[in-house]
Amino acid sequence: MGGERLVKRIGVLTSGGDAPGMNAAIRAVVRAGIYNNIEVMGIERGYAGLINGEIKEMNLSSVGDSIHRGGTILKTARCEEFKTDEGRNKALNVLNIFGIEGLGVIGGDGSFNGAQKLSHEGIKTIGIPGTIDNDLSYTDYTIGFDTAVNTVLDVVSKIRDSSISHERTSIIEVMGRHCGDIALYAGLAGGAESVLVPEEKFDIDNICEKLIQGKVRGKLHHIIMLAEGTGYAFELKKKILEKTGIEARVTVLGYIQRGGSSTAIDRILASKMGAKAVELLMEEKSGRVIGIKNNQLIDLDIDEDLSKEREFDKRMYELTKILSI
Ligand code: ADP
Ligand code: F6P
Repeated sequence: MGGERLVKRIGVLTSGGDAPGMNAAIRAVVRAGIYNNIEVMGIERGYAGLINGEIKEMNLSSVGDSIHRGGTILKTARCEEFKTDEGRNKALNVLNIFGIEGLGVIGGDGSFNGAQKLSHEGIKTIGIPGTIDNDLSYTDYTIGFDTAVNTVLDVVSKIRDSSISHERTSIIEVMGRHCGDIALYAGLAGGAESVLVPEEKFDIDNICEKLIQGKVRGKLHHIIMLAEGTGYAFELKKKILEKTGIEARVTVLGYIQRGGSSTAIDRILASKMGAKAVELLMEEKSGRVIGIKNNQLIDLDIDEDLSKEREFDKRMYELTKILSI
């Protein structure tokens, strides 16, 4: 018999590295779900919690006082077991037992790989991009990226104060896994003299030449913004010393980039994307990911996302060079 089949119960989880704004996304899924008379189950510790049945019903106050908080109220995890057929079968059983028909997965490309596999097994899954790395191919921005860039900028100005006082060169290593976007955006916005990313080859002699020219011109400091994906921070420090006699200091920013209260941009993005995920699940859509392109919310097939390489913004990279001559 035909007739409309309404989704009655959905789940939401956060997976992979946490990102500022994840709470705003959870809140949006929960509140938009409840607004539409859907029960929303919060799954703790990502796919690990799904396998273990760490599931609780969310109500309006479960997400109260959370929009501005860093981290994720559902906790997150990386779960090797979920990569196995056995692990995913356990998860599928749990989803069936709890009557969860649709799932919002807030995470990065690894988490989306997991969501893709669940959708192939008949669970309606929607991916919401939550990662500071901004490394997904189909979306201009991911939730958490803007906050991470702003955190880096805040720290860069502090390092700059010390750097100027000592007339020093600073190498600042930022996160991003294989993606150079945090370095690129924070490098441009922070006025770094050099930006080094895994997507572009760089020449150590050019960096050294720029350093020497800067010194001759009376520059008091030199900031090199370097993405962790280059794997080059300490080697670079050594090379600069060997080639120029200039001693650089390395600061690895690390996990501070994942913490803190999210920016308005991330909260708004997360709120829109979370609500969109509920809308898609209500339309019984599955295996889709939500993104933002040219300031418009989009959704597309998860297979399409995962099969594409992210394009690096070469023009922006060239601009960092032009503006730091
Ligand atoms: P992110 O989602 O931030 O990219 P990870 O790459 O660590 O983070 O992935 C998060 C989790 O997603 C993994 O710990 C694993 O549970 C799941 N996952 C990653 N890759 C796959 C895969 N190929 N198949 C199934 N699950 C995966
Ligand atoms: O994906 C987010 C991220 O912070 C990357 O930038 C970084 O390479 C990685 O996670 C660190 O992972 P972990 O939390 O396992 O140390």
